[in-house]
Amino acid sequence: MCGIFGYVGKDNNVGNLILEGLKTLEYRGYDSWGIAVKNGKTIEIEKKVGKIGDPKLRFPKSSIGIGHTRWATHGGVTVENAHPHLDCSRKIAVLHNGIIENFEELKKELLEQGHKFVSETDTEVMPHLIEEGLKKEGFASSVRDAFNRLKGLNAIVALNADSSEIIAAKTGSPLVIGVSDDGYYISSDSLGLVPHTRNLLFLEDNEMVILGKTLKLISLPRGEEKTPDIQTVDWKFEKVDKGKYKHFLLKEINEQPQVVENIALNYETEVKNLADLIDEAFGTFLLGCGTASYSGLAGTYLFSKIAKKHVNFSIGSEFNYLEDYLTPKSLVIPISQSGETIDVVEPVARAKQKGSRIAAITNVLGSTLYRQSDFKILLGAGPEKAVVGTKSFTAMVAVLLFTAYTLAKRQAEGKKMLSLAAENVSEILKNHVGENIQKLAATLKNREHIYVIGRGISYATALEATLKIKETACLHAEGFAGGELKHGVIALIEKGTPCIVIAPNDETYDDIISNAQEVKARGGIIIGIGPRPNKVFDHFLQTADVAEATIIPQVVVAQLLAYYLALARGIEDPDKPRNLAKSVTVK
Ligand code: F6R
Repeated sequence: MCGIFGYVGKDNNVGNLILEGLKTLEYRGYDSWGIAVKNGKTIEIEKKVGKIGDPKLRFPKSSIGIGHTRWATHGGVTVENAHPHLDCSRKIAVLHNGIIENFEELKKELLEQGHKFVSETDTEVMPHLIEEGLKKEGFASSVRDAFNRLKGLNAIVALNADSSEIIAAKTGSPLVIGVSDDGYYISSDSLGLVPHTRNLLFLEDNEMVILGKTLKLISLPRGEEKTPDIQTVDWKFEKVDKGKYKHFLLKEINEQPQVVENIALNYETEVKNLADLIDEAFGTFLLGCGTASYSGLAGTYLFSKIAKKHVNFSIGSEFNYLEDYLTPKSLVIPISQSGETIDVVEPVARAKQKGSRIAAITNVLGSTLYRQSDFKILLGAGPEKAVVGTKSFTAMVAVLLFTAYTLAKRQAEGKKMLSLAAENVSEILKNHVGENIQKLAATLKNREHIYVIGRGISYATALEATLKIKETACLHAEGFAGGELKHGVIALIEKGTPCIVIAPNDETYDDIISNAQEVKARGGIIIGIGPRPNKVFDHFLQTADVAEATIIPQVVVAQLLAYYLALARGIEDPDKPRNLAKSVTVK
């Protein structure tokens, strides 16, 4: 989702510096981009639709500038709607991440005052509000007062041609300041800052920072000065490339054996601590969105079956409406690859206000959830560059499964299951199953719908499999609990309808096979994924039987199917599915 990068300091090649910074934010997903640099008492701007590529920038020498990658919310993907946005005098440039909920009311007021708007965005109100403010007060006060008028969760960065300062403020989306000898950097995440400096200030909500010759931190809304807590981090950031793989997606699918094995070998203490927190809590809630939510759903089955423990689950965006349950004895476990998903970050902040304990499971060190939580487990999956989540999902499931086994005082068994699952994933990736999946993808590529059924934990597998197929191959897929078929869904089955059946060797096997028979009797084509062959399967993609950890190889098979379906359907870049963003920082 939108990415912000800015600099003020001694380096006078700021255009290129910001361009390189924006490239580090590309993985978040965007559809247009722009850069503004201060040139004497004017602002020079370049804005483009599409990918950054290798543009020829014509910026003058300057040492103050800001840049943005935009993921469209208000207004289409056009040059006019790309950030930065300017005021009428073209002296104020603003970048924004978030949604200004009251922008229509503010725009109406500004139009009545004579301001001219050139874009359809909500953002554009901000430079005009600052322009109004400058009639009566200085730059910093104008930004503060303008920002205080915004409703919603927002982060903005403002540049003024008549000042040598960059000002940023936030109530939502992440902003990190890099403090170095040559100047100050600002970015939506720390990835782009670490090549320049390891001294970081994570801006908190309701803070504003003024960056110029010095750094000044103030609290909002009133503007009292605060002492900045600048942290020196020693994190290692790996520079990742595709290696021998054509796409990051395939590379990340192939990394899963090591990711799962790492958890099996090195996470005893982490999962023991989490198990203790769950044991002590009066009510545990797993939260997540999209792929992470399906790991949470799988978690409820794992805790019930393995640890005989009832653990609640909610998708992040719905948890706001369930928070009345929360007490200081509740434990909330947000699960998030990025650690920045607003639909998780926001309810967690509310849970914290209610005094509940927070134990985050995330892949990103220093992310908002990482910092918000009392206890954290890092997934250790390494950077996930493809927008579609793969290795983060198997890592989430592995952590939950290992925790459930630990809670049941059967940690050694959990460890063994994970190692066996990792081994089986290696085999699946190496051997003929990959071939079979490619052939199967070729036969399914022109289908309009694919259904996926499962029971118990495999219901979560079914939902995750369909999400992979939908987003990667742009093909309609729907997942159902097998038992729900007869309650309506079976009406959709006709001759030739593909139905994937998630069939682990567990207590659901007989019933899910009966459901498969029902689909087959109506002409459906049955694709079985699991350890045990069955006559009902027209196609069979075999995994090992690794008890509750069978979900891991089964999901990997579904990921591969989605990937090869995408290729068979001519999807140009499966790493960046249309309309999607990696880090979803708006509601
Ligand atoms: C799907 C996918 C998304 C994310 C969701 C949550 O493949 O990647 O559904 O799972 O946006 O993201 P995180 O885990 O970063 O909170």
